[in-house]
Amino acid sequence: MEVVRAESAGFCFGVEKAMEKAYEQIEKKEEKKIYSFGPLIHNDQVVKELGEKGITVLGSEEELKQLKEGTVIIRSHGVSRDIYHILEERGVECVDATCPFVKRIHKIVERESSQGKQIIIIGNDGHPEVEGIKGWCQGRVSVIEKKEDAENFTLEEGEKICIVSQTTFNYNKFQELVEIFKKKGYDISVVNTICNATEERQTAARELAARADAMIVIGGTHSSNTRKLYEICKSECENTYFIQTLDDLDLDLPKSVRLVGITAGASTPNNIIEEVQNYVRINF
Ligand code: F3S
Repeated sequence: MEVVRAESAGFCFGVEKAMEKAYEQIEKKEEKKIYSFGPLIHNDQVVKELGEKGITVLGSEEELKQLKEGTVIIRSHGVSRDIYHILEERGVECVDATCPFVKRIHKIVERESSQGKQIIIIGNDGHPEVEGIKGWCQGRVSVIEKKEDAENFTLEEGEKICIVSQTTFNYNKFQELVEIFKKKGYDISVVNTICNATEERQTAARELAARADAMIVIGGTHSSNTRKLYEICKSECENTYFIQTLDDLDLDLPKSVRLVGITAGASTPNNIIEEVQNYVRINF
């Protein structure tokens, strides 16, 4: 039996960088306390391990405002400008692990809104990345997620808009929403800021699931990108298992199984993927 790991399974570039920065801080072994503003990644096991190694999660802006010393890691989703100001005011050190692709969006909305344009973010309102982007806009900003939001949107006479996207938004849906704005005849500039890491991972998983007899998807139950991977694999391969770690794996494979595929969400560390991969290789 063959065990194949899908290409692009696991950490994306931005998450990898954030983890590296976190470990650099841990290895410095300074006396200062280390915090992350929000859980560093969507993986309970990793957050727990980081906690044991000395990284405390700050859950809110209020907690941040209480700090008197230490180092705060900004995760790959990025944060609003206000958060940097709070860090400066508190005199705490900032380790910025904002993904460069997200940073690029901050720069675009800052520049375009300072020129008087209204910013439209195509994405999920309330998501930390979107909240961060909002916090770099100077004037009016709207978040559009659904067709109806775009259809009901109105603009004041003479106003211009700049449209950007949350990095993980679906490209086809983004295009569909942009079309609605274009049809309204508004003066718009559109910057496609979708990161292709998610799409690459999904395409590789789909291709592997289509030829696999069984598929294992590894990731946090709260991770929306892992759930999406599971749906994609399940639609191609009936024998698809969703697990968080090796402990959840209850494989019951018939003798006829020749190919087992493995993929993982963006917050699943390599060691968990390898553990599953080795287990399946040795035991089946
Ligand atoms: Fe960055 Fe794309 Fe990952 S924006 S955090 S590389 S999904």
